[in-house]
Amino acid sequence: MKDALVPADLHQALRRATQAAHVRLNHHPLLAGLTRPGYRLATYREVLCRYAHGYAALEGRILAWLARHPGVFDYAGRRKLGWLEQDLDWFGDQPLARAPAGAVCPDIDSPGDLLGVLYPLEGATLGGQVIAPHLERHLGLTPEAGARFFAAYGADTPARWRDFLACLARWPAAGEEGERACRTACATFAYLEALLDGGVAIGQPETAAG
Ligand code: HEM
Repeated sequence: MKDALVPADLHQALRRATQAAHVRLNHHPLLAGLTRPGYRLATYREVLCRYAHGYAALEGRILAWLARHPGVFDYAGRRKLGWLEQDLDWFGDQPLARAPAGAVCPDIDSPGDLLGVLYPLEGATLGGQVIAPHLERHLGLTPEAGARFFAAYGADTPARWRDFLACLARWPAAGEEGERACRTACATFAYLEALLDGGVAIGQPETAAG
């Protein structure tokens, strides 16, 4: 019966496992208005501060694991923390200094864990392609001026995503690593959500509702 519920394809398994968490993030008060006219710059800056904290922790773990297992995945050209730092510099902001209570950065101890962290980070670049034009239209932000992170790989984004899916396709959903990938992807979504939920980064966040 389990086979009927868990797709054989790891991408579909990850998608299904994290679907509810993705919907929750899309509706998070700090993110919900990103594509709408009333979204406030102060809210956007909050998001960047929180993401910068989370991406520093997550990419630190990715790079540490890959340093011990060279050749498993080429992350060097996919680093996103620099994009966030560029945006923070533009606004003169700093990353959130301390993780809020309950925000637990997932460990990477296996290839499945690695895939589980990469899936949300690479997938979020797809959302960026939808969000970036709205940031420019409504807030006047461009990749050079405050919106480098959401521009992600720009026109290369679909190709980079396809390359990542090709890598995922080498791993079955069934078995230890597939299960770890789904568990760690859920933990990564939970971590990002907890970072958005807790504490105050650069001042009392204004609501995303215009
Ligand atoms: C930290 C925040 C976010 C994370 C971690 C995240 C993660 C992901 C992932 C993993 C995918 C790939 C889904 C697949 O397997 O096909 C994806 C796709 C996508 N996301 Fe997000 N996302 C985030 C925020 C957002 C937001 C705020 C929006 C709203 C505008 C958004 C819009 C999209 C869109 C349009 C796609 C591509 C279409 C689709 O396959 O559904 N995402 N995101």
